[in-house]
Amino acid sequence: MSSSTKSDYANIKLGREGAIGIVTLNRPGALNALSMGLIRDILAGLTELESDPDIKSIIITGGPRTFSAGADIKEMSDMGPIDALKAGHLEIFDQIQTKIKKPIIAAVSGYCFGGGLELAMACDMIIASESSRLGQPEINVGVMPGAGGTQRLTRTIGKYKAMDLILSGRQITAREAFDWGLVSRIVPDESYLSEAKRLANDLASKSPLAIRVAKECVNKALDSNLSEGVQFERKNFYILLGSEDKAEGMKAFSEKRKPVFKGK
Ligand code: CAA
Repeated sequence: MSSSTKSDYANIKLGREGAIGIVTLNRPGALNALSMGLIRDILAGLTELESDPDIKSIIITGGPRTFSAGADIKEMSDMGPIDALKAGHLEIFDQIQTKIKKPIIAAVSGYCFGGGLELAMACDMIIASESSRLGQPEINVGVMPGAGGTQRLTRTIGKYKAMDLILSGRQITAREAFDWGLVSRIVPDESYLSEAKRLANDLASKSPLAIRVAKECVNKALDSNLSEGVQFERKNFYILLGSEDKAEGMKAFSEKRKPVFKGK
């Protein structure tokens, strides 16, 4: 399959391979440290892919040595509270979760620290290579996670493990992260990207409507009580019953063939 790029960004590479879009963080000299420019480019790239009707699923990745070593400490060292408030770059992590309706897979290799882990946690699935390392080391530079880490991590792995990671700033292995429910799959180092592409292609073959609504419902579980969440799920399930994709999926099942979904 061929890879094509439509737009040029200073800090990311944006690729398309069939129905999947790939955002590659591209500040290798700074271990993909999340400068404001990089964070803005990530959202712009994702927004471009979100509005492309040919793209059905998205991968965010870095390079083999690093997914991202976190927020750009050099940039942050001169930043005051009002600068950060005005820049609004930390809000972008929430926008990734709320604005992008297509499924996003974080393909992680190497370092995945601080804001890098927060970026991965704003995605829908995390595929990590065996030797990758994850952590929230912000405490070591006198701050704490500021892009959703204290909240998303705690909801994902629970209070005591989250406290362990955030207060000690230690690194954990992909295996530990997997055992804690922090990554979806661990794969051999050489296949983190190919496995992410395989998964992205698989997601691209499903009903885009069902994927979108299921993603919203799972995210709702992190943000609501059980009865609210179950009600949200039920109403969304009813909505899907009216879709052409539901008719096609069930017809294809009866006819013992593969469904062809149109996202309608
Ligand atoms: N910000 C800016 N630059 C960074 C960086 C970061 N987070 N992480 C690495 N770099 C730069 C280094 O300064 C270095 O640049 P120079 O060659 O110009 O000196 C280059 O990337 C390579 O880094 P190292 O030489 O340190 O590479 P290493 O392999 O020896 O160590 C590392 C890798 C363990 C990841 C180490 O670089 C490190 O500890 N980085 C900082 C990790 C961190 O504290 N992240 C949290 C940031 S705060 C945050 O994320 C807040 C938030 O939640 C929003």
